[in-house]
Amino acid sequence: PQEQSFAQRLIAWQRSAGRHDLPWQGTRDPYRVWLSEIMLQQTQVATVLPYYARFLASFPDVGALAAAPIEQVIEHWAGLGYYARARNLHRCAQRIVAECGGRFPENAAALAELPGIGRSTAAAIAAFCFGERAAILDGNVKRVLCRVFGIAGFPGATAVERRLWTLAESLLPDATEIGAYTQGLMDLGATLCTRGLPNCPACPFAENCVARRENRQRSLPEAKPR
Ligand code: ADE
Repeated sequence: PQEQSFAQRLIAWQRSAGRHDLPWQGTRDPYRVWLSEIMLQQTQVATVLPYYARFLASFPDVGALAAAPIEQVIEHWAGLGYYARARNLHRCAQRIVAECGGRFPENAAALAELPGIGRSTAAAIAAFCFGERAAILDGNVKRVLCRVFGIAGFPGATAVERRLWTLAESLLPDATEIGAYTQGLMDLGATLCTRGLPNCPACPFAENCVARRENRQRSLPEAKPR
């Protein structure tokens, strides 16, 4: 019989062991999903939770955010760090109001044109909100793919990154499952396939993972050459 695909294995794991109760998971509102993805870019879930709630209470939609003075936006960001994220968030909201009639673009390519929204964040928003088959590739996902598939080289290097994008796109499931799949990839990288000591016994790819088979969890992904 055909081996279960990477996507099917990940989706089954996400349904049984992934996270389902985060406040940005119950919605397809691109404003809420976008806000969560920007906050989560360099900050862990537990830290983001109270900021996310306060931010939404003060700026409930993209129009409210666009109309607010930047100082008030920065105040709501105080403690999260990487303040360029807050400035881009505000700029992005103003662009969406001024140029898109207050509605988010509904595909990853158009989302990626906006301030602060890179290729991976655009894909996450498009997958969660619009069911688009778009691949994410953030630091956590790079680590998972380098380990499971034994990808050599520093994942920040252009050639390796191109290879990872191609691999990430080749693994995508049907549109109907892209949300669970994308969340599963994020959850696996954040909870099991961590940077320090990964929890391989609990991983759905334990039997297929190159890093585990060759005991290279500590050397994959490879470090930046110096
Ligand atoms: N990290 C980045 N995006 C995330 C999400 N949607 N859920 C949990 N962790 C994340």
